[in-house]
Amino acid sequence: MTLAVLGTGIMGSAIARNWLKAGHDVRVWNRTRSKASDTGLEVLDAPTAEGADVLITMLSDGDAVASVMENVSLSGDQIWWQASTIGIAATERLASGRAFIDGPVLGTREPAEAGALTVLASGPGRERLGEAFEPVSARVVDMGDEIGTATRMKLVLNSWVVALTEGVAEAIALAEGLGLDPRQFFEIIEGGGMNPPYAKLKGTMMIERRFDPSFPLVHAAKDAGLVDDAARAAGLDLPLPRTIRDQMAKAIAAGHGDEDMAATIRAARPD
Ligand SMILES: NC(=O)c1ccc[n+]([C@@H]2O[C@H](COP(=O)([O-])OP(=O)(O)OC[C@H]3O[C@@H](n4cnc5c(N)ncnc54)[C@H](OP(=O)(O)O)[C@@H]3O)[C@@H](O)[C@H]2O)c1
Repeated sequence: MTLAVLGTGIMGSAIARNWLKAGHDVRVWNRTRSKASDTGLEVLDAPTAEGADVLITMLSDGDAVASVMENVSLSGDQIWWQASTIGIAATERLASGRAFIDGPVLGTREPAEAGALTVLASGPGRERLGEAFEPVSARVVDMGDEIGTATRMKLVLNSWVVALTEGVAEAIALAEGLGLDPRQFFEIIEGGGMNPPYAKLKGTMMIERRFDPSFPLVHAAKDAGLVDDAARAAGLDLPLPRTIRDQMAKAIAAGHGDEDMAATIRAARPD
């Protein structure tokens, strides 16, 4: 297959490399050209689907996807896999009139590099992406024909991811504030049902104040906002996503937006 990757950030570059390893012909485009060149793959001068069987967008948010795709047209059997997390409204808007698969992913830098993402896929024609999904995923969840269903589930999953991360941040901040060793918190929950591995992973980064980005904080805050939008549109009053978004916004304002989302602890513990 010939695949065009628009956006070679953390996720897009890993996906592009795994497609190349699987023997596909891969072209990449990125707003900051040097990051596209760093992949070692053929670099496109502008966003285009020309000559590609599949085009993937892996960009920061809905506005970025809309601006990059503004002048990109698809013809014949070409198909667009929209994999960025952009929320329901943008997904429905962008899909209109195009061969579009709503395909957000679960998994961060390491699973992306290992070709072990979970892909949520909705939209007619998603079965045609089997060969594209295979080298980048450990699991594909078929979310049906209706575009937007995969994105809805992605928001549910991310509501949990950001709540867990913020919960760990506040437990560590509280332990430190009370003069306790936060490592002891993890020792006490070890081996029990209250100890998801993800909490230890992000918690260790927080304790060590080591924030190499797997999932940048700016995107986590964006996702908390998208969860809030979705909840409101569904007539639900869920205060947690708003609070988390605001905490993350504080850490971003203090200069931590490009760090991992574990840096949300900087809102509670700026030192
Ligand atoms: N990292 C994760 O763990 C993870 C997991 C699941 C889903 N996601 C989602 O996947 C998407 C990409 O995440 P990532 O971690 O790969 O992010 P990233 O490393 O920050 O990359 C973001 C990409 O978006 C591009 N971009 C941003 N604004 C743009 C604009 N206005 N016009 C054109 N390009 C623009 C960036 O280009 P430049 O290089 O020029 O800035 C870069 O290519 C996000 O929606 C994120 O929420 C991420």
